[in-house]
Amino acid sequence: MKRAGVIGNPVEHSLSPHMHNAAMQALGIDAIYELWPTAVEDLSARIGSLRQPDMLGANVTVPHKQAVMHLMDEVTETAQRIGAVNTIIPTGDGLVGDNTDAYGFQAALLERVEPLSLRTALVLGAGGASRAVIVALMDMGLERIVIANRTDSRAAELAQEFGVGMAPWESVGDMVFPEADVLVNATSLGWHDEMPVNADALDRLSADSVVVDLTYRDTAFLREAAHRGFVAIDGLGMLIHQGARALTLWTGSDAPVDFMRAAVLAEQARRA
Ligand code: ATR
Repeated sequence: MKRAGVIGNPVEHSLSPHMHNAAMQALGIDAIYELWPTAVEDLSARIGSLRQPDMLGANVTVPHKQAVMHLMDEVTETAQRIGAVNTIIPTGDGLVGDNTDAYGFQAALLERVEPLSLRTALVLGAGGASRAVIVALMDMGLERIVIANRTDSRAAELAQEFGVGMAPWESVGDMVFPEADVLVNATSLGWHDEMPVNADALDRLSADSVVVDLTYRDTAFLREAAHRGFVAIDGLGMLIHQGARALTLWTGSDAPVDFMRAAVLAEQARRA
């Protein structure tokens, strides 16, 4: 039996084992996906263990997504642009570090909207999640991407690195919304139903805008968006599609996305 798993700390609440074990079962692959809680001091040994022949692959999550990069034999261009590895693929030549978050974001968005309808995006947040979103939006060919972040200097740094726009946080509600075809909440707000911006500010979005929140569930922000008639997309689709892409990279098989989604939803319902 082959083994895969998620490397992070903590990982106990990860939904990945549920979706990957369901997928492997559906594909008839003799493999198990495990939780691999890993302290910083054990990271190097953990990555070393992926060189064993029974290893199918690994996901990487907080806090190791950056630190694993220098432990890889090769880091893909996408992972370099995002500045983080979330998927490790053992190959005959060693360990390849990739990042499937941007793919996951794109796939989740394209489930709901036509790509050509999107020209301008406003991304709230300037952390790791925002980097994957910006790479995804750039690769989709959007004309204008603007970042706004509570700490303006972080938004400015990111904007400079990626060659995109930046708006001061305090202007977000007033100035930037009317132009945004896509508004993405990539801040860590959401889990406790805090709003990244005032609900009233959503009234300034144009009628056919799309609102995305990377949180893995319905949030106050998404409820306010849906209430106003916008397409509202939560982070579950991104989670599922980043996992689907990782599975394909490990196995070479098309991922059974519907099984993965059903497994994630079932586990969320069980925990609720
Ligand atoms: P991740 O990897 O999930 O993106 P992160 O790198 O810790 O996590 O980034 C968290 C993001 O949420 C940041 O953009 C952070 O803003 P700051 O750079 O100003 O810290 C944003 N964030 C966290 N708490 C926030 C709050 N109360 N209001 C607005 N933004 C917040």
